[in-house]
Amino acid sequence: MKLAITGKGGVGKTTLTALLAYLFATDGRRVLAVDADPDANLGNALGVREDELAKIVPIKDMEDLIYERTGARPGTMGGWFALNPKVDDIPENCALQVRENIKLLVMGGITSGGGGCACPENALLRELLRHLVVDRDETVLVDMEAGLEHVGRGTARSVDAFVVVIEPGRRSFQTAHAIVRLARDLGVKRVLAVANKVREDQVEAVRQGVGDLEFLGYLPYDPCAVHADLGGEAAFTACPALLNAARGIKDRLEKALL
Ligand SMILES: Nc1ncnc2c1ncn2[C@@H]1O[C@H](COP(=O)(O)OP(=O)(O)O)[C@@H](O)[C@H]1O
Ligand SMILES: [Mg+2]
Repeated sequence: MKLAITGKGGVGKTTLTALLAYLFATDGRRVLAVDADPDANLGNALGVREDELAKIVPIKDMEDLIYERTGARPGTMGGWFALNPKVDDIPENCALQVRENIKLLVMGGITSGGGGCACPENALLRELLRHLVVDRDETVLVDMEAGLEHVGRGTARSVDAFVVVIEPGRRSFQTAHAIVRLARDLGVKRVLAVANKVREDQVEAVRQGVGDLEFLGYLPYDPCAVHADLGGEAAFTACPALLNAARGIKDRLEKALL
């Protein structure tokens, strides 16, 4: 299964990605959790220790690798560089085993300077994302920023579903619907919505915000998530109620994609 988790900043993409990674992993599946948000913190959400996190270099910042694979230095615009660099050894060499059945690969965000910059680091990241989604046989969960500039058509079509996270609030609904339009333009097969941080009295408002999107369900607002985040702990170990709600989402996700 290949999923891209997206939505406005702060809605809970990273939290949901980590919860799903944990649930798939405990089912015995090998999970590759991919951090493709420039504001990378999936490692924290997976409970990786600070000293381990400090050692991770996002692929985007691996200047020598980018040069070796594309023939150009990061930051150079124009000029010649390979558009289909070799990437198939990168997951093996660069992903960190964070717990049983879960590997973390930190890509770093793609610079989207005015409609997607043609620079070698973006060429490498795009090709890497394509490879992860098209060629790999483990469960791949990509924690993405809201923009989809860097997702090529081939990649978009190979993702089983885009999961759009929504929180109660008009801006989040708007971002979600904008993502859905972009995703459909790119040829994404399925777009599924999850509502996060929902308090009981907000359920009806969220339903309306979700509109005609295919809906997987709610995760409750749970102060435990914030405490876990502050304490550098994973929500799946610290917050049983949230994990339990995520289990419902995962079950519905699997049924929807059967
Ligand atoms: N269900 C929830 N209830 C309360 N707080 C949450 C919940 N889900 C996420 N959070 C908190 O909201 C903040 C943003 O979540 P995060 O997953 O980092 O969002 P994103 O990746 O979309 O930017 C974090 O502090 C996180 O702990
Ligand atoms: Mg995030």
